[in-house]
Amino acid sequence: MRSLSTWPYPNIVAHRGGGNLAPENTLAAIKKGYELGHTMIEFDVTLSKDDIPFLLHDDTLNRTTNSQGTPINFTWHELSKLDAGRWFSSEFNNEPLAQLSEVADLCLSLNIQVNIEIKPPKGLEEKTGRIVARLAETLFKQSKMPPLLSSFSPEALRGAKEVAPSLPRGLLMHRFRSDWSNLVNELECYSIHLNYKLITPKRLALFKAKNLFTLVYTINDITKAKELLAMGVNAICTDCIDIIKPTF
Ligand code: G3P
Ligand code: MG
Repeated sequence: MRSLSTWPYPNIVAHRGGGNLAPENTLAAIKKGYELGHTMIEFDVTLSKDDIPFLLHDDTLNRTTNSQGTPINFTWHELSKLDAGRWFSSEFNNEPLAQLSEVADLCLSLNIQVNIEIKPPKGLEEKTGRIVARLAETLFKQSKMPPLLSSFSPEALRGAKEVAPSLPRGLLMHRFRSDWSNLVNELECYSIHLNYKLITPKRLALFKAKNLFTLVYTINDITKAKELLAMGVNAICTDCIDIIKPTF
């Protein structure tokens, strides 16, 4: 059995690639995280109409692109023409949406470890989990560490487990779920990814007792980050990527 003292990933994770310093979930964001010294990034992945995994956080394109609507209604060819940088600042005009495959190439070339958060379209949870996990396993074959998959959707993790059982899985919780223990057993989870407001020493001990690593999000205060790491969480995910860095 593995030891809980051996979390093999970096303990600081740049949220959505570039935190609050670049348009989230783009190649530019990942480059920004890298420039600032980050060695692990988290990003969100959903599906296009033609089953291409690409990076997007929201259920719609409205907030972070120059289009509107539900991404699953667009082919990748259509999505690839959108601007996903302009909303953030004119410095990032014409920054496109990024496919998972492009992100993998970039991360492998920069030696960055990844946490792929699967954000499935409604009703396509298991299918999205299967497609993302299968592709991630192939794309990251040369990576030092396997991509850490996570999702709020147990169904997506179920799909991932079915096709790529060897990739580590993390159950995400924004609100505490009373069924977490059954889920991590069934899904053979590697980690719990938790809204940091939910973490307590008692809960951390329960996770450790089940041999689970703990990642908490989104911590933007350096004192709180230090406190959580001292409490024993394994990793923190942050938007303040210029302050909370691997060397902070
Ligand atoms: O994976 C941690 C965090 O990204 C989960 O919340 O909404 O920012 O994707 P969200
Ligand atoms: Mg996320």
